[in-house]
Amino acid sequence: MNPKTTGVNFAVFCSGQGTNLQAMIDAAKKKRISAKLALVVCDNPGAHAIERARRAGIPVAVFDPEDFASKKELEAAVIGELNRGKIRLIALAGYMRILSDDFVRRYKNRILNIHPALLPSFKGGQAIKDAIKYGVKVTGATVHFVSEEVDAGPIVLQAVCPVKNNDSEKTLLARVHKLEHKIYPEAIELFARGKLKAAGRRVIVK
Ligand code: GRF
Repeated sequence: MNPKTTGVNFAVFCSGQGTNLQAMIDAAKKKRISAKLALVVCDNPGAHAIERARRAGIPVAVFDPEDFASKKELEAAVIGELNRGKIRLIALAGYMRILSDDFVRRYKNRILNIHPALLPSFKGGQAIKDAIKYGVKVTGATVHFVSEEVDAGPIVLQAVCPVKNNDSEKTLLARVHKLEHKIYPEAIELFARGKLKAAGRRVIVK
């Protein structure tokens, strides 16, 4: 084991662009994450995230839902890969599949997700659009543990940014992404160093 790592292997699950994955790759390079990014799991064979992982020399496992008869079978294959990689922590980063309750329970308080809003506001897949439409003056990003209910698990870290009068979805997303790329690696590092303690709905950062 590299003495500079904490011995925690983590996997990133993604489906698309993978800008958060890239932020983790960069943070690891700059030694801001001491955990090892040991695996990328992807459900979309065309995702740009795969290219990013390969360029960084990280093993990629692609599980195309079309190759599996059911979610249960797909998740069993994913679990096999996680076991092989001795993965302690899963970081969802734009993974477009909802994990089964069984899967979530198996990895209780070991799955993180990033959401592009200040939860519990603007849950769901259109958070940026919804924030602009609602007219909020601030929004942000939330890292939370994944629970059976979507976008409702205990909150680990949040960061805030303004919503400007002339914001489009594109400009606001860019601002929110900057926050995400900062707080997601931070949350992973806190987990890896054993500094996150779940106490019911609250996560105490030690
Ligand atoms: C992020 O905005 C995240 O909040 C949401 O999905 C998006 C993924 O983006 N869950 P990327 O693939 O990391 O660029």
